Amino acid sequence: MTRPARARIDLQALAHNFSVARSAARDSRIMAVVKADAYGHGLVAVARALGRADAFAVASLEEAIQLREAGIKQDVVLLEGVFDPDELEVAIKHQLQLVVHNMEQVSWLEKFRSGASVCLWLKVDTGMHRLGFSPADAPAVWQRLQRLPYVKNNGLRWMSHLACADEFDNPANGRQLARFTEVIEHTQTPQGTAAEASLANSAALLTRPDMRLDWVRPGIMLYGASPMMPAHEADAGLRAVMTLESRLIAVHQRRKGEAIGYGQIWECPEDMPVGIVAIGYGDGYPRHAPSGTPVLVNGKTAPLVGRVSMDMICVDLRNQPAAQTGDSVVLWGEGNPAETVARYAETISYELFCGVTSRIPRCYYEN
Ligand SMILES: Cc1ncc(COP(=O)(O)O)c(C=O)c1O
Repeated sequence: MTRPARARIDLQALAHNFSVARSAARDSRIMAVVKADAYGHGLVAVARALGRADAFAVASLEEAIQLREAGIKQDVVLLEGVFDPDELEVAIKHQLQLVVHNMEQVSWLEKFRSGASVCLWLKVDTGMHRLGFSPADAPAVWQRLQRLPYVKNNGLRWMSHLACADEFDNPANGRQLARFTEVIEHTQTPQGTAAEASLANSAALLTRPDMRLDWVRPGIMLYGASPMMPAHEADAGLRAVMTLESRLIAVHQRRKGEAIGYGQIWECPEDMPVGIVAIGYGDGYPRHAPSGTPVLVNGKTAPLVGRVSMDMICVDLRNQPAAQTGDSVVLWGEGNPAETVARYAETISYELFCGVTSRIPRCYYEN
């Protein structure tokens, strides 16, 4: 038997979550965010399964080229643009769309010559204070980009990103929208039409109809995890795409007072069965997950006990004394939401998904 740890990726759940996005944002086009190997789910497999997406968003030229080499024909947007002027030629050859967020990129573009038309997304910093031009500077940059001979036909667009969209009631969301609206209202394409704009990530797509605009950019919701903190009724229909699973590789009867694993940080409160699962931080299971983090054994909760090792964890089997070597274990996914595990481990589902290491095979199926 090979090591039983694997990530099952349910492509039907992915398609379902995409439909949730589509029904919520009927009047917008969807730019599916597939950066970071589609949040650990597998870039090419996910993009192929999202054939109805209008565009894909990635963080690097390498990710974009992987999509093109796999035959993905939709628009592909580099969310941070190019990192170097030499990347421009390659990006244009692959018909990539570029975010423009700083003056260096503007001057690279002004020196660049292209026979092909190019689509640019001008990034405005409306309050995230990470990337983009201030609302005061953005209109002048827009004018400069509009003069580029290769930016044609609706090829200049607006983008901004929300800092607190996961908090439904946070007033910063409304302030960002107001700043964005003010900037984009005053610009037009050379054809005299309103320029296209994009603001909403998953959280805003689901909960803020006023923020959907022309393009929405869902990431985490496509993978089935709630983008909201706390969860919101709008995310109730999402289905987990990744189920990280493994098996029990040993079951031991332990005596009251015996300590489990590295550092002996957890002691058996009574005589009890303890299961050993083939999964650990070498696979991306978070090392700082504390005792009590829910794990499913044969579909029932068997809390983690003791420290997470590189290749193994230990679980409390008092709920299921009949459990034996070979029984199935779900670390997160179906029946054990990644958000719950993330809360125990003091992180977010995004980090859990992205952290699944390359030694975990991704097994694709349609449920
Ligand atoms: C610029 C940008 N847009 C959209 C997204 C998607 O966000 P979410 O996964 O919360 O939907 C991200 C993710 O980090 C992002 O950086």
